[in-house]
Amino acid sequence: MTLLDTYKRAPLTIVAGEGCELIDDRGRRYLDCIGGIAVCALGHAHPAIAQAIAAQAQTLVHASNLYHHEPSERLSRELVARSAMSAVFFCNSGTEANEAAIKLARKWAYRRGQRERSTILACSGSFHGRTFGSLAATDNPAYWEGFAPLPGGFAFTPFNDADALEDAIGARVAAFIVEPVQGESGVNCATPEFLQSARLLCDDRGALLIFDEVQCGMGRTGSLFAFEQFGVRPDVVTLAKALANGLPIGAMLANERAAGGFGPGDHGSTFGGSPVPCAAALAHLRIRDELDLDARVRERSAQLFEGLADLARSRPEILGEPRGMGLLIGLAVQAPYDSGAIVAAARECGLLIGSAGGNSVRFAPPLIISEEEVSRAVSLLGMSFDCAQDDGSGRQTLAPARSAVPSEARSAESKGRNDRSG
Ligand SMILES: Cc1ncc(COP(=O)(O)O)c(C=O)c1O
Repeated sequence: MTLLDTYKRAPLTIVAGEGCELIDDRGRRYLDCIGGIAVCALGHAHPAIAQAIAAQAQTLVHASNLYHHEPSERLSRELVARSAMSAVFFCNSGTEANEAAIKLARKWAYRRGQRERSTILACSGSFHGRTFGSLAATDNPAYWEGFAPLPGGFAFTPFNDADALEDAIGARVAAFIVEPVQGESGVNCATPEFLQSARLLCDDRGALLIFDEVQCGMGRTGSLFAFEQFGVRPDVVTLAKALANGLPIGAMLANERAAGGFGPGDHGSTFGGSPVPCAAALAHLRIRDELDLDARVRERSAQLFEGLADLARSRPEILGEPRGMGLLIGLAVQAPYDSGAIVAAARECGLLIGSAGGNSVRFAPPLIISEEEVSRAVSLLGMSFDCAQDDGSGRQTLAPARSAVPSEARSAESKGRNDRSG
């Protein structure tokens, strides 16, 4: 083993991808309904993305942020125009985008002479990333353990509790950061009322409102930005994951109110917004328009919700009702069944899905998934409940916790529940 042991990987070696399928080293095809953890919006090996990457790689791969270059300038213009924000900072990942947002909020208050205004308020169940600032805003003690001391000046308020938020946003709060749809903690949607209260309270109390759309942005909810679904405009939006359809990039978009928080030298990144990921992101935006992807997502979302709800109703001892938005859907797995065992059993049946918090399974397929593929995904999940095994009497049983899958896969998947670094 030469890769540091930070992930408990499934016993599967992926060698290629095509559309919504991944192919392993034995040539077996899997229907990919986790999409590289909500990354591959246009699926795998999309020819136009590959072509954009190749063309840019033959022209300019890197020049640094000491100079202007066309791909990042064009991408920032596109994102600003589509979000009605004012300015963009590019980085390389979701945690970096949130790190930038946290720093921006503090510097913004500082520049306004409000030095005591430094608290970053986050929600219960939040996940914002693994670097220290983003980790300090993440409500999951399993991720903090052994890393103390975390940076100070972070506080938490219950998700979807507007009354508690009213009490929590005081004069020391620089920003409130929230995921419109919490992905890692099990796919939980904010209520529009909660986000609307957050907007009013942030305005009233002089704090910035940050939406972490790293997972739920870039079309996943059925609109390019999740905030469009809630009728709320934040001051700052963070993006990553699907932005370049698989190449590493992150972005922090700030409106006019917030953008002045940073000046030259306040923040930076050697690679952030480098030409190749920006070219891929530009191709992604162009293709999503050509495909009218938002309309497709809404259709496939309705179909997937319906199929999963039927399945959950037919197996209520295993699955709870689907929840989420667009093509980000979670289902609670009922004890004593275990989400890790179901993920592994589904994989054995040729379906890739993910685990999430609260003993849930998660669907985040490519947004180009077809009607036939959605039907196939639902029937493969159903099959996976039966794809189990001989209980010793020759009878086939459902996949109960810790018995449906080979032990190697089982331990990997179960650990994966605590290790679901999206
Ligand atoms: C909402 C959210 N924010 C931030 C991150 C961190 O992104 P990255 O893994 O690219 O650092 C994730 C990853 O799952 C996420 O879901």
